[in-house]
Amino acid sequence: MSFDVVKKMLKNELEVLDTIIYNELYSDVNLIKNISDYIVSYGGKRIRPILTILMSKALGYSGKNHIVLSAVIELIHTATLLHDDVVDNSDKRRGRLTVNKKWGNREAILVGDFLYTRAFQVMLNIKNFSVLDVIANTTNKLSEGEVIQLVNKNNLFLDEKSYLEIIERKTAVLFSAATEIAAIISSVSDNDKISISSFGLQLGIAYQLIDDILDYNNYDKDVGNDFYEGIYTLPLIYLMKKSNEKEKKYISSLLSNYDSESFLKLRSLILNSGSIDYVFNIAKQKIEKATSLISHLFSNDYKNIIIDLSNFVLNRKF
Ligand code: IPE
Ligand code: MG
Repeated sequence: MSFDVVKKMLKNELEVLDTIIYNELYSDVNLIKNISDYIVSYGGKRIRPILTILMSKALGYSGKNHIVLSAVIELIHTATLLHDDVVDNSDKRRGRLTVNKKWGNREAILVGDFLYTRAFQVMLNIKNFSVLDVIANTTNKLSEGEVIQLVNKNNLFLDEKSYLEIIERKTAVLFSAATEIAAIISSVSDNDKISISSFGLQLGIAYQLIDDILDYNNYDKDVGNDFYEGIYTLPLIYLMKKSNEKEKKYISSLLSNYDSESFLKLRSLILNSGSIDYVFNIAKQKIEKATSLISHLFSNDYKNIIIDLSNFVLNRKF
């Protein structure tokens, strides 16, 4: 089942999700309203809220809180995108100008804060202390992840282990939270909750690994953002590791020129080094681990949909 089919199956829930997001982004402060409308009118893939909704249904949850909480997750995600685009000085997101380029850095940061705090207000409607605990810890880790990434900009000594720690914190913890809150509201056992949360974490790591591949190897989309920002991801880390001293010097010289010619040279080195296969295989292992963690938990139709969604994460081109 493709990602589009998964979305079609959840059409009703996703419509409720959109309505909640739309209503919750309302503000009588015009600038907030304008920027919110801009963000909402071109939503992204919604993969994180889809995970919360799907996992809740797979676990037999029958209330309405799963959609409210999926909106919380998407609001937090959107807040991180606004902040991230300022930090990375990005000019395009979802095929359009970023908020920082259209309005300005200060505007993007302040509206990001609005989204973060609104997410907590929405979550408190659910009045569930365990959910609050997960979300509070998660947003805190997300910030740490961004800071560790920032201090490691242009760090040629960044190794695979440290890279994996960064992507766990900056991306995977939110995937983990998206699935863990489904487990909490569905009142599963502690052991099952741990498996479900680890499923989300592994899936999130794979998601970011694929994202980092796409930044070098995607013909449809902007590439090279990480290169221009001095963010060294696994495709490059692996290339460096395989290279001899002379090659390392050459790569390092490419990295210090922030021009498209150097990017294209680095990109072809990466594409010819087996690096993409290497990173893809790690992502594949993470997906296999993720699905094995939850395969014993349910035997309904949703199980296969979750597996299809996991395969989408691995094979996605956008
Ligand atoms: C972008 O996330 C940031 C990452 C963690 C890779 P998405 O690729 O899920 O962004 P949207 O919401 O679909 O635009
Ligand atoms: Mg970024």
